[in-house]
Amino acid sequence: MGKTRKITTEALRRMKADGRKITALTAYDHLFASLLDDAGIDLILVGDSVATVVQGEDTTVPVTLDQMIYHAGLVSRGVRRAFVVGDMPFLTYRVSTEEALHNAGRLMQTARVEAVKIEGGQPVLDCVRRLTDAGIPVMGHLGLTPQSIHKFGTYRVRGEESSEAEQILEDARCLEQAGAFGVVLEKIPTAVAASVTRELTIPTIGIGAGPECDGQILVSYDMLGLFTRFHPRFVRRYRELAAEIRGAVESYCADVRDGDFPNADESY
Ligand code: KIV
Repeated sequence: MGKTRKITTEALRRMKADGRKITALTAYDHLFASLLDDAGIDLILVGDSVATVVQGEDTTVPVTLDQMIYHAGLVSRGVRRAFVVGDMPFLTYRVSTEEALHNAGRLMQTARVEAVKIEGGQPVLDCVRRLTDAGIPVMGHLGLTPQSIHKFGTYRVRGEESSEAEQILEDARCLEQAGAFGVVLEKIPTAVAASVTRELTIPTIGIGAGPECDGQILVSYDMLGLFTRFHPRFVRRYRELAAEIRGAVESYCADVRDGDFPNADESY
């Protein structure tokens, strides 16, 4: 078997330069992370979406740094090849750059993530500079920024108006200048994502941002049909695992109730 070549920020930059698409998904535990890694995913995000898909919350706001460190630690232990990015949760990087540095350091040192992701444009530029200066790779996140849901009150598409589109483009340029190694573009028109992708030398990773981005990310529980509470238009479901699991559990219950499980082969 060939030696596994670890994905790095430099590898991601080269993939953009060579026009090779970057594949990314979220994971929150060791088993899922190792399955995604074995399947050849390039980047695994330990997303704060853990709050909605695993913890049963309505938004990503409640998840804490300690919880992210716990989940990111599980993921890092399951990965050999993919590049592992950990989300900085709500308010862990906006109070001060010193606090951001301390919190990102905990995610890296304790949970072994290789980079952190933070949401926002102009207000987080000092933070991006401070973290990258300290050797912490930072991924930006523009467009729909779910941590600000209570400020905006809606998950609508961002950047449909030209002023908002221009702001996204300007924020993306500033994030690159501040040292970000990549940027997630969430729920923005294809044309806006295409302009950002053309302008930047760092990779753009889209979610609901059309096909022109340098890579694509989805929440793994969404694309596997495990999380079915709602179905955003940008999610392609590759399986219907919630229905599969329900069917398997119903069969198990029936077998136990009928005395059909366990049989002689399954007993000692
Ligand atoms: O938390 C998350 O899963 C994310 C992705 C949607 C990009 O930020």
